[in-house]
Amino acid sequence: MTNQKQNSSAPVSRRQFLKHSSLAAVSAAAVTSFPAILNAQTKPALNAVIIGMGGRGTGAGDNFLEAAKIAGVEAKIVAVADIFPEPTNKAKEAFGVPSEKCFSGFDAYLKALDVPGVNYAILATPPGFRPAHFTAAIAAGKHVFCEKPVAVDGPGCRIMYAAGEAAKKKGLKVVAGTQRRHHAGYIETIKRIQDGAIGDVTALRAYWVNGGPIWHRGMVGNTDLERQIRNWYHYIWLCADHHVEQHVHNIDVCNWVMGAHPVKAWGMGDRQMLGDKPGEIWDNFAVQYDYANGVAMHSYSGQIKRDFSSVSEAVVGGKGTSNPAGSIKPTGGEAWRYRGKATPEYVQEHVDLINAIVGDKELNEVEQVTNSTLTAIMGREAAYSGGVVEWDDMLNSKYAYGPELVYTDPSKMTWGAFRTLKSPLPGSHDIFKDGAVLPTV
Ligand SMILES: NC(=O)c1ccc[n+]([C@@H]2O[C@H](COP(=O)([O-])OP(=O)(O)OC[C@H]3O[C@@H](n4cnc5c(N)ncnc54)[C@H](O)[C@@H]3O)[C@@H](O)[C@H]2O)c1
Repeated sequence: MTNQKQNSSAPVSRRQFLKHSSLAAVSAAAVTSFPAILNAQTKPALNAVIIGMGGRGTGAGDNFLEAAKIAGVEAKIVAVADIFPEPTNKAKEAFGVPSEKCFSGFDAYLKALDVPGVNYAILATPPGFRPAHFTAAIAAGKHVFCEKPVAVDGPGCRIMYAAGEAAKKKGLKVVAGTQRRHHAGYIETIKRIQDGAIGDVTALRAYWVNGGPIWHRGMVGNTDLERQIRNWYHYIWLCADHHVEQHVHNIDVCNWVMGAHPVKAWGMGDRQMLGDKPGEIWDNFAVQYDYANGVAMHSYSGQIKRDFSSVSEAVVGGKGTSNPAGSIKPTGGEAWRYRGKATPEYVQEHVDLINAIVGDKELNEVEQVTNSTLTAIMGREAAYSGGVVEWDDMLNSKYAYGPELVYTDPSKMTWGAFRTLKSPLPGSHDIFKDGAVLPTV
């Protein structure tokens, strides 16, 4: 598969897509019905729901409450939703949410969004559900904190772009869980790079190379679907694979430095140590991304037991180098380090969202996080297929990894819905060819 166009219909650019998408028009009526609760003079209360009460949902709930204190805004977590009942019990203890506002099941997200007074939604499920959950939150008129990545494939990204535009039209604010964008060291360093501190950027590197394998929770559950959702990280339709799930953070930093997304990718990888464990994902990738101006970003991601580990980025310029987290080394000049003290980025991202809501300032990170999610998906597909994948082909791809209802209405899913895949094999996994279907086991 090298640069194959995936279908006979003419591909569209992202902007054309947004212009014509019906999803982009998610009920304008809700704009006017959005409660007039947020006004800068009174700093009224924020009432949050958490959708996906796992590790991150719980952490983001704490971060939200801490951020509200910093912003001087009254805030509560008033409802939670999880597909399973056990995690919602944590919410009673952790956040004092009453039992009748702790929802479980496939439709739990809709019930939580429907709780009166809710104006802030924290989305922290596995990313496969994100496009539909985000669309529902925007349709319901909520401001959103939305974890990364935001989709697992081209169809999911298109839903995100469209719902992001709908959020803008409604004046709803959205922050994504790419928290480096709210880290003072990154912000200051990337500004310096963009102001020319290391000259023109000539190359970038991005790493999410962990020194150990990813968790597996055991094949517990009554149905295949339940076992998959409990082990969501191992299934592409739920997690998007490691290269997207985690490494999107570092890819996002590179896109931020460049002020653009790459136009093509090629790469390689393997399912090496996961071996015969249940699941589809790979555990190591090396991908080269090319930006339109010819600059390349070299990306390495993996979750394999090894001595070397690094989660970082590096930028090379004509006049120096930088670790964009907070240092610059001009060639022959004096090195600079960020030495400021700042609120932790996991809290700062909520402070920024809350301030934007209260002050009615524009803040919508959907396009940037979706661009970085699609970048990572493009690299993953390049490695899976063994070919070169171009941006527009990825954007227009019709290949959906998940069952249809995951994209259209997950509240109607049942435990019988199920999808499984052979771990992709380069040379035989080509999602861009006409009528490509999942090679199920
Ligand atoms: N920004 C960061 O640094 C960061 C850190 C950790 C996790 N995350 C992101 O947060 C998300 C969740 O990760 P986690 O580590 O909390 O995983 P987790 O497994 O601990 O939690 C996920 C929760 O979502 C629930 N869930 C699954 N499907 C659901 C559905 N359809 N409706 C409602 N609930 C559902 C699960 O039961 C589980 O409780 C992922 O996208 C991950 O990438 C981001």
